[in-house]
Amino acid sequence: MDIEKRIEELKEEINRANYLYYVKDMPTISDERYDKLMRELEKLEAENPELATDDSPTKRVGSEVRSELPPHEHKSPMLSLANAFSEDELRDFDRRCRKLLGLDEKEPIEYMCEPKLDGLAVSLEYSGGVLRAGATRGDGSVGEDITPNVRTIRTVPLRIHRAEDIDVRGEVIITYKDFETLNERREISGEPTFANCRNAAAGSLRQLDSKITAERKLTMFAYAVGDKNMFPSQSELLKALADLGFNVSPHNRLAMGIDEVIKYVNDWAETRETLEYDTDGMVIKVNDAARQIEIGELSRSPRWAIAYKYPPKTIETTLNDITVQVGRTGVLTPVAELEPVRIGGVTVSRATLHNQSEITRKDIRVGDTVVVRRAGEVIPEVVEVVTSKRKPDSEPYRIPHTCPVCGAPAERRNDEAVLRCTGVNCPAKLKERVRHFASRAALDIEGFGASVAEKSVDSGLVATLVDIYNLTTDKILTLDKMAEKSAANLKAAIEKSKSAPLHRLIFALGIPNIGEKTARILAEKYLSMDALSQAPEEDLAEIDDVGPVTAESVRRFFDDPKTAELIAELKKAGVNMTAEKTEAAEGYFAGKTVVFTGSMTLMTRQEAKEIVTKQGGKATDSVSKNTDLVVAGENAGSKLEKANKLGVKVITEEEFAALLGDKEDEPESDGIQGTLF
Ligand code: IVH
Repeated sequence: MDIEKRIEELKEEINRANYLYYVKDMPTISDERYDKLMRELEKLEAENPELATDDSPTKRVGSEVRSELPPHEHKSPMLSLANAFSEDELRDFDRRCRKLLGLDEKEPIEYMCEPKLDGLAVSLEYSGGVLRAGATRGDGSVGEDITPNVRTIRTVPLRIHRAEDIDVRGEVIITYKDFETLNERREISGEPTFANCRNAAAGSLRQLDSKITAERKLTMFAYAVGDKNMFPSQSELLKALADLGFNVSPHNRLAMGIDEVIKYVNDWAETRETLEYDTDGMVIKVNDAARQIEIGELSRSPRWAIAYKYPPKTIETTLNDITVQVGRTGVLTPVAELEPVRIGGVTVSRATLHNQSEITRKDIRVGDTVVVRRAGEVIPEVVEVVTSKRKPDSEPYRIPHTCPVCGAPAERRNDEAVLRCTGVNCPAKLKERVRHFASRAALDIEGFGASVAEKSVDSGLVATLVDIYNLTTDKILTLDKMAEKSAANLKAAIEKSKSAPLHRLIFALGIPNIGEKTARILAEKYLSMDALSQAPEEDLAEIDDVGPVTAESVRRFFDDPKTAELIAELKKAGVNMTAEKTEAAEGYFAGKTVVFTGSMTLMTRQEAKEIVTKQGGKATDSVSKNTDLVVAGENAGSKLEKANKLGVKVITEEEFAALLGDKEDEPESDGIQGTLF
């Protein structure tokens, strides 16, 4: 097996899964499969360090998620919970707590049992009785600011009868019914559907436009506050939240001792099936706050609480057919077409079968009775075949070696697990390429989503990427369900995309292995598409963050005569092919790393960061010994503390603004005055 190829393949699959999960809130593979792929990649990279390029998903640190929403620093960290998967593990948890509290065998601990709601955790900051800010959990210290969005949720009180500051934490969820209605609407309008309720809730909340959030029917349940010392016990905390007007789960119960907890957990296993929303477990918390403090916390999760997870729900159904989907790079993916069944409150009718070797391993055949599983966070999966119910005339499934869309032969490249369509003009591949080209992270053509991409290819209006620029308003109007106003807007968006920065165009081309970050690096280094397309492989391979695998991939892409033709046509259509040299080495912040923390009042954080970047510096989100400067806005918290501890230079937002001088009045002079460094 060619290791380099396999690494490339793994990176591609993992990066795509990451993108769909984090950016699109739409998981495509199960957690188990994701972990398996990651482990394989880690192992191969450890054995072949020269192949471990910096664009590898294994190099991703923490859970920093790309987001266009402004960051929000939590006043106190938002913790997560350790999991228990069995009665034994619950008993272990009880034993640990008792040991830490020095209790003897006989003395039971009082626990609060709360359904574990499967949505998105939020923090709501109130001061003077008014809701001031709402944020997602993010990495626990910094989340995303979604204040306008949480204000649209009916169960989030905008005012409360409490003058003292309070951070209320809870879960935003969507009911099964609203989830299905939302997905039906999305299906009709050609938008991708959400895989589960949690993703639908997250996708609805993490919106730049709060009008979209307002259209979705979201609910919030409150279960915690930021300050542990505020209430004497969890039960009193929950009562206080209910009294303040928050929605608190009616299924929360006190239990005396772990036996009572286990009984409630088991009884609840049935009750939860009758609810209108997803719960994936039961959270068990030591009720007494003084005891919680005594037991303490590990870095990311408290030791006084645990999440019991119910086993994923499974159900039997019939496999009516296996269809094949074609992706952007031509990969053929077999899909199970199931007799629709309700599982965990949601109707399931399709599931991915990954590839031929998975099908062979599980010996899945059309007509089989199969066991389907849906864990809260995973799209449905065919676990196994009930062979005792197999029809005698069934035959093993073989994925066709021709593309179901264009009929061209499908091939396995080297030792790849997947088959790829070899058709040069395959409409399925084209649709995916067009969708990627126009997507937000690429050329950001607003209104050109999956459905328009599909229709424009199906209608024959778009046969190559450059045809996007040949679309006139009249042609757009011929597309199904296209209103005049939208057609005009779309045309304007297409025109606007011609002047997108070079790095976006490089990313939009869909060169294998080139993510957004590498595209940016290439644009900065070569400054034009012409220079990049002629760059020798050795030069490319020497760039930091690129490496030999990516270099080869770039070369292969540009050596293809079809690429040259496409680039020439895009150029003719007026698409920007150059970048301006950033005077990085000469700017005021040249080579410096700057962190902004706290809330900014004179400018937005985004604006401040841009000034630093434009002046040759790097604006990052976390403070370390490599940080050169911290700009502290109002209510700066843990980052400021850390900066002081590390002896990093700190200035106020006013001091930062003063550096910029009268730039506003004198746009020509970008010179910053001052002697900071
Ligand atoms: S308490 C200090 N209570 O589960 C404890 N979390 O795995 C912090 N969740 O991020 C969380 N229902 O999104 C708590 N009743 C509940 C919960 C709950 C759901 C989620 C929450 C959290 C995750 C932890």
